[in-house]
Amino acid sequence: MVIAIDGPAGAGKSTISRLVADRYGWAYLDTGAMYRTVALLAREQGIAPSDGPELGLLAANVEIGFKPGPGGAPRIFAGCREVTREIRSQEVSAEVSEVSAHRLVREAMVARQRAIAEAGDVVMDGRDIGTVVCPGAEVKIFLTASNRERARRRRLELEEKGIIVGQAEMEKKIVARDEYDSGREVAPLKAAADAVVIDTTSMTIPQVVDKVEEEINRMVDAR
Ligand code: DC
Repeated sequence: MVIAIDGPAGAGKSTISRLVADRYGWAYLDTGAMYRTVALLAREQGIAPSDGPELGLLAANVEIGFKPGPGGAPRIFAGCREVTREIRSQEVSAEVSEVSAHRLVREAMVARQRAIAEAGDVVMDGRDIGTVVCPGAEVKIFLTASNRERARRRRLELEEKGIIVGQAEMEKKIVARDEYDSGREVAPLKAAADAVVIDTTSMTIPQVVDKVEEEINRMVDAR
């Protein structure tokens, strides 16, 4: 079974996906981490975020691996090197949207994501899982939240790492990234026509997990 969880930055996708995967004993795939790994390596190798052909080559050749980490958060590897922390840097966050918009980059990542989906039960989070990667996913969820709330969550995440960003600045960054992700030509961020949309603005994490589980159980019962 494939559970597709799409939505904009800060909507709670990774937290919810991880908890749902844990509850059912399924795998969890953070597809954003894959695009972030490409963006990180591109930065280090001096490849511009606008250079589609070079980025495509990099994406086709990079070996991206996942291992379970503390508290269930997956550790991410590029070959043997762990990149879990570095892919979350503000520099990578600022460039990853442009990197991920190139057709060749997406083709390389989508092929891997589909292979993982075919290998077994998985909860996948991203922007285009229900629309492009796995349009046949049994359950499709689109998580959203207000700009203010999403920026607040991202700010708190960064604060835990000792990075202080103002609310207005974070809101601006998050809206800019959404606009880029929604406006791109290839596989833009959007809810699949058959996705269940959940606005998490004033919901607690357990409430959202319960709602997703309701959808999964409904699907299982209907089989
Ligand atoms: O979920 P995230 O913030 O880690 O994702 C980083 C970027 O990667 C996001 O701005 C757009 C891109 N992305 C994508 O285009 N398609 C996906 N399935 C996942 C992420």
